[in-house]
This record gives sequence, C-alpha cells and structure tokens, in this order.
Amino acid sequence: MCGIFAYLNYHVPRTRREILEVLIKGLRRLEYRGYDSAGVGIDGGNHKEWEKNSKNIHLIKQTGKVKALDEEIHRQQDVDLDVEFDVHLGIAHTRWATHGVPSPVNSHPQRSDKDNEFIVIHNGIITNYKDLKKFLESKGYEFESETDTETIAKLVKYIYDNRESDDITFATLVEQVTQQLEGAFALVLKSVHYPGEAVGSRRGGPLLIGVRSDHKLSTDHIPILYRSSGKDKKSSNTLPRMDEDTCLFPVDEKAVEYYFASDASAVIEHTNRVIFLEDDDIAAVRDGRLSIHRIKRTAGDHPARAIQTLQMELQQIMKGNFSSFMQKEIFEQPESVVNTMRGRVNFENNTVILGGLKDHIKEIQRCRRLIMIACGTSYHAGVATRQVLEELTELPVMVELASDFLDRNTPVFRDDVCFFISQSGETADSLLALRYCKERGALTVGITNTVGSSVSRETDCGVHINAGPEIGVASTKAYTSQFVALIMFALLMCDDRISMQPRRREIIQGLKVLPDLIKEVLSLDEEIQKLAAELYQQKSVLIMGRGYHYATCLEGALKIKEITYMHSEGILAGELKHGPLALVDKLMPVIMIIMRDHTYTKCQNALQQVVARQGRPIVICDKDDHETIKNSSRTIKVPHCVDCLQGILSVIPLQLLAFHLAVLRGYDVDCPRNLAKSVTVE
Ligand code: F6R
Repeated sequence: MCGIFAYLNYHVPRTRREILEVLIKGLRRLEYRGYDSAGVGIDGGNHKEWEKNSKNIHLIKQTGKVKALDEEIHRQQDVDLDVEFDVHLGIAHTRWATHGVPSPVNSHPQRSDKDNEFIVIHNGIITNYKDLKKFLESKGYEFESETDTETIAKLVKYIYDNRESDDITFATLVEQVTQQLEGAFALVLKSVHYPGEAVGSRRGGPLLIGVRSDHKLSTDHIPILYRSSGKDKKSSNTLPRMDEDTCLFPVDEKAVEYYFASDASAVIEHTNRVIFLEDDDIAAVRDGRLSIHRIKRTAGDHPARAIQTLQMELQQIMKGNFSSFMQKEIFEQPESVVNTMRGRVNFENNTVILGGLKDHIKEIQRCRRLIMIACGTSYHAGVATRQVLEELTELPVMVELASDFLDRNTPVFRDDVCFFISQSGETADSLLALRYCKERGALTVGITNTVGSSVSRETDCGVHINAGPEIGVASTKAYTSQFVALIMFALLMCDDRISMQPRRREIIQGLKVLPDLIKEVLSLDEEIQKLAAELYQQKSVLIMGRGYHYATCLEGALKIKEITYMHSEGILAGELKHGPLALVDKLMPVIMIIMRDHTYTKCQNALQQVVARQGRPIVICDKDDHETIKNSSRTIKVPHCVDCLQGILSVIPLQLLAFHLAVLRGYDVDCPRNLAKSVTVE
C-alpha cells in the first residue's frame, strides 16, 4: 500500500536528471504497492542558490502510474535537468489511495504550505488525522488535499514555527510529530530549512535504508541513541552528541549515498547493504552521517541496528523474457519450490530440518491447537494444508482470516501456537492479529517470503519460504511455496512418530518429484491459452471441488476475480446441492477439480449433478483417470502426485487460465485495478 523511496547523495555529484532517474527507477520497483498516482519532491533552483541557503523545493505529481509521472517530469519546462548537485535529497512516492481520490493534489509528497517548507511521503493511515486537522485549522493552517498525510506536513511546520530554540534538529522535529500520530506509518521528510538532510520513521509500515559508499563502512551496526533511559521519569530534550560511536560515517566529507525505501527491491540495484528500521526509530542523515534515535530505551529493545547484506539479485526482480511478472512467477514455480526445500528436506533419509523452528519445536508439539492466520491467497495456503496438518500433528487446526479473527475477539491462550502466513510480511490485518496473539501469550510463528519484514521480526520463530521476490500483485509462486513450507512443518512435527513413518516417506518422496511434475503442468500452457480464448468473454466462472482441492477452488476464483474482473466463485462441491447448483445451466462456465483421493466418488457424484443440469464442466483431473476423462466433455489432465501435494498441481492450470483470460481481456496483469501487493492498511 503505497511505495516510498528517497535518495540522498552526499559529496557524490549528480545532475538533476540522474537524481530523477534514480527516483523514478525506485518508484517503478515499488509500483506493485500502489499505482494510482505518483510524485517526487526535489530541490529547485541550482546548487549555487543552495549554497546561499535560499533553496526551494519543487514538487512534480501526476495521476496514474509512474510512467505518467516520468512523462510529466519531461514535460516540465522550468526544470533544468542538467544542474548538478553535490549534496541533494529527493523523495518520491507511488500511491494506493485511501483518503481522497487519485489526483495530483492528493498525491505525495504532501506539503506544509505553498512554499513547500516541509514535504513528506507516507505509507499507512493516520487514524487521528481528523483531530490533528481540526487543531491545525484552528491555528490558521489551510488544507488543500483530502489526505491524512497532509496533517503530518502541516504539523511539522507548526512545531517548527513554534520552536523554543533555533537549533532544533530536523530529527527532533520529526520525533515530536510522530509522538502525535496514531495509526500506521512509514515516512520520509525533506525541508528547505534542513537542506541535504533526510529524516525517516516508521510505526507499523516497513522502511529500510540502503547505504552505498566506496569507502569501507566504519561499523557493521549503528548503535541507537536514546533521548532518555527507561528509568528516567522525564525525557531530556537533547540527544547525546552524534559522534564516532553513534554514526555510520565518523568522518565528514566522505562520499556516500542513502536510499530510503519501503522494500529491498527498490535499493538492490544500488547496494546490498541495508538497515531495517524498527517501529519508532527516527533515522536521520545530516552532513552525510546516518544516526538512529529513539525516545527511550525499554526492556527487550535491541540497542543497535545491524547493517545487513541482502542476498537478493537484481535479475530476480526483472521480467526477463516474460510479458509480465505474474507470468514469470508462474513459470518460476519448479525452481521456487526447490528453493523452499533447499537444505531443509533430505530425500535420502526422509528427514526435514527447519532451522527457524528448531528451538521451539518441542513447545509447538506440546501445544493445545494450531491457529493459521492470514489474508487472501496466504489464507488459502492455510486452507490447503489444514487436513495434512491435522493428520500429521494430531492437533486441532483452525484457519482464520486475520480481519475476521480480530473482529470476533477470538479467544487465544498461552498454549496456542499461532501461525502468520504472509508473503509480504507486512499485511496490516495479519500484523494486528500477530500482536493480539502475542499479548495473550501464544507462541507466534511466521511463514513469510520477506526477510526483515514485520512478520519475520515480530514472531517468536518461523520459516522463510525463500520463493524469491514476488512482484506481480496476484500471488502465485508464494502460494505454492507457503504450501510446501507448511507441509515441511507438518512433517517435522511427526518425525519421531513411528506409526507416521510410511506416510512421511510417501510425502517426502512426493516433494522430491514435485518440481518435475510442476514443469509437466506448465507444459499445458498452450492448451490453457486456447481454453481462455473460449471463455474470456464470459461474465462468470464457477470452480468446484472438495477435500484437498477446496483451497484450489478458492484460490483459482480469487486469481480470476482479481486480474480479469470476471465474477468467479470457488464452491465446495459438498455444498453444491445446498444452493449453488441453482446457478448451473448449459450456459454457465463450470470448472471442476476431480482427483483420485478419498473424495473421488463424492466428486463423481457432483459431476453427475452438474451434467444432469445440462452443465458442461471443464474437469481438471489426473491424467490416468480414464473414467473421468471418458465422462467429461472437456478435461485438463495433470500428473498424479501424493494426495496432500496434488493441490499444488491443480492450482497451476487456474493460475495460467487467469493470466490468459486477463491478457485476452486487455488488462494489465501485474497491476489489477484498485489493488496493491502489500496491504498495509486495515
Ligand atoms: C491475491 C493476493 C492477496 C494476498 C493478501 C495477503 O493474489 O496476493 O490476496 O495474498 O493480500 O498478502 P500477504 O501474503 O502479503 O500477507
């Protein structure tokens, strides 16, 4: 939900053109987080004016995607792109509208006043913005946008205008602002009063800082400055001096570049050295030196932020020969599931090791129940694996939509183990549910694709699914990797149960052949494209199945809905006769999933019920199931796999179908309307 990106060059001469290129490129990488409007804030004038401290800030904002902003930049007559800056901060934003329609005035950066004294980019929602706005209006501030973010820009100016001392730092100002904010945010600010300085902070929204320098970094971690110690009753107004121990670069005049971003994909082409900020950190770059401070130290606080080395490769976030990220990610699945299992599953001796759980597995084995909490596709991964989890752990397993789980104030106990399944690791509903469960003393486990994300940092333990960056808004490879990660967990839970060994071996050997079977399913692409050509003008598609494949129905229908804008419904075949059968006639497109597992006979009955109503279902079935093939007018034949993994093979044809339908209907597959990849608002 919104992407924020900022670039600060310090003693690295860059033309305005180069700076804008870096900003636009950063936004393009973050576009999946929101794409209804975008904007940048850069220094106006030229660097000589800056030296005279008469700097002004220039804002360029545009409705639509980052491309539209880029075009707008090049249309601007008064922006001299060849002016060079030795020190400069540019901030940029791509928006997913929450407050106010997509329009230039509602786009970020938002500003404090007509002179752009303070500008801010923000991801999240300020829940008390109406109260703040009322207060600021009573002080004479005039608002121009409908956004909650504008209150941040105005509030910082209000505090600046009413400052007691002239030497108040930018970081202190921002700290005072964040103390007034409720809700979730990640933000970066720029000001004419603090040229060449950047301040960023977060609470609930992700924010990291990439660092690039030809000089060796003097440290591999940044100690946190505390305004007061936890024991102090009153907080002091001055921070300890920034000195060699507290800054990244102890010596002035060294060339360095900083990148503030919502996620690592936006910085990886510049640097692999990053610092992930924690909630309520205030990070400031001043005179080229980065420092991080917090108001006070509390128990459990880590007193430093490590400079981490990202393992991600640039190539992983490029489309390659594919027409969209979604298509690329569908076709990556033979490798992404291998990466999920790499170093964890030993196919020779049928063992599973999950390093992220090893210290907690005994505690998990003793728990009262497992609760899987997630949203959207990640929720479907929980539904897909629930049965095998129940079978192998012999524990009750609940699968919960995070928003509903919270709405119900679901009882949670100390001996519950709560799983948070999230590709991004930043989904607001899942994070709120995580905090809710922690408060009630449950052990929390993260299943996420994003190292350093809030879910991976805030859970007690967990598994990274290692599917590689997923950029297409419609989740595909993350689903199959979450599926595999949960199966590995189930296998680990019963590794010392003698009675379970034959079943464990069967599943582990199923995992071994899975990548090849996925390749075989992907070879159906052309056939599925032809099917899409027959269906793409339809209004609706029903997808029916049961048992292990109910999740496939839900997930297939979600994929179709979100990228083709057709109506689609995943129906539990057992419920057919209790209502949905009324929808079936000779015109309604129906897809049925029938596999040779314990629900086979019941699925055959459902097939007969549909056919008896003149339905002509397209059946996804086992390629050796001659009976179903004989009884169906149209089939998509997939290879056979162990029952609890078959859902990985049955979902891929639906991913491909959704993709081709969207292409034929002329939609942007990677950026479906009204959606964003990372939903950081409730
Ligand atoms: C659908 C999709 C969404 C996400 C959901 C949760 O294709 O991607 O339904 O699955 O927003 O996101 P994460 O997994 O990041 O918590």
